[in-house]
Amino acid sequence: MRMMVVSGGGTGIGRATAEAFALLGDTVVIVGRRPEVLERTAGEIRLAARHERVVPVPADLATPEGAEQAAAAVRRLGMGAVDGLVHAAGGVDRSAAANLHEVDAAWNRDFQQNVLTAVLLTAAVRSDLRRPGGRIILISSIAAVNGGGGSYSAAKAALHGWAVSLAQELGPDGITVNVIAPGYIAETEFFGERMTPERHNRLVSRTLVGRPGLPADIAAASVYLASKEASYVTGQVLHVNGGAAFSR
Ligand SMILES: NC(=O)c1ccc[n+]([C@@H]2O[C@H](COP(=O)([O-])OP(=O)(O)OC[C@H]3O[C@@H](n4cnc5c(N)ncnc54)[C@H](OP(=O)(O)O)[C@@H]3O)[C@@H](O)[C@H]2O)c1
Repeated sequence: MRMMVVSGGGTGIGRATAEAFALLGDTVVIVGRRPEVLERTAGEIRLAARHERVVPVPADLATPEGAEQAAAAVRRLGMGAVDGLVHAAGGVDRSAAANLHEVDAAWNRDFQQNVLTAVLLTAAVRSDLRRPGGRIILISSIAAVNGGGGSYSAAKAALHGWAVSLAQELGPDGITVNVIAPGYIAETEFFGERMTPERHNRLVSRTLVGRPGLPADIAAASVYLASKEASYVTGQVLHVNGGAAFSR
């Protein structure tokens, strides 16, 4: 039985990923900051998967204390090695930066929520990853290659470089590290109140397949990268965007 840890597992892409693993019979730990969101999601996934092994762990992964808290909760389950770590926690800082201090603060927030959440949780559970066989999956964004997001684009692009280093470090232990770069994914909390029908249509029109992505599209990619059949795939960026941007 596998043990999977999904950050940002309470909503959107992380939630769909956690559900996909749970449906395969995996034990899944979902991590996020809001306990009530995690509890509700865990309950719904348990019902769908018909087993109880979905564990909500509230923690702020942008802090070393939060990452250590999450790792300690995983160890307390006593399940042994961690088979997979999917880093879906993230978001975009949309505050207007009118002066240098605000620029500094906004860039730091985007770096913390998109890079450090993954870096700190990985460091906290690194020694617990299954060797060989462990899987690390980072969720970046089409914005890492297409721009359009300022500090968010830069933070997501940082994950691409780090993934290569981590794949080099962990490859000899039989652990793979890959990135999924989603395009526009509807039915998440990512856009909050800022999504309009016009913006939705504009984003869909940039795809070749004429539809928005759904969290399940990204979950399916994670299921593949986490599988034992994907053991020869590491250090790669998998673009899942309906053809809105091309791999390079
Ligand atoms: N939706 C899209 O179109 C799209 C496109 C490309 C990439 N992405 C990326 O996909 C990932 C998942 O986003 P989503 O679209 O599913 O949006 P979402 O529904 O907003 O999910 C983001 C999740 O991350 C959690 N999170 C944020 N900061 C955290 C922290 N410091 N510690 C722990 N958990 C934290 C949030 O929960 P709490 O608020 O409870 O902590 C939330 O559950 C993100 O990295 C996002 O950048 C999304």
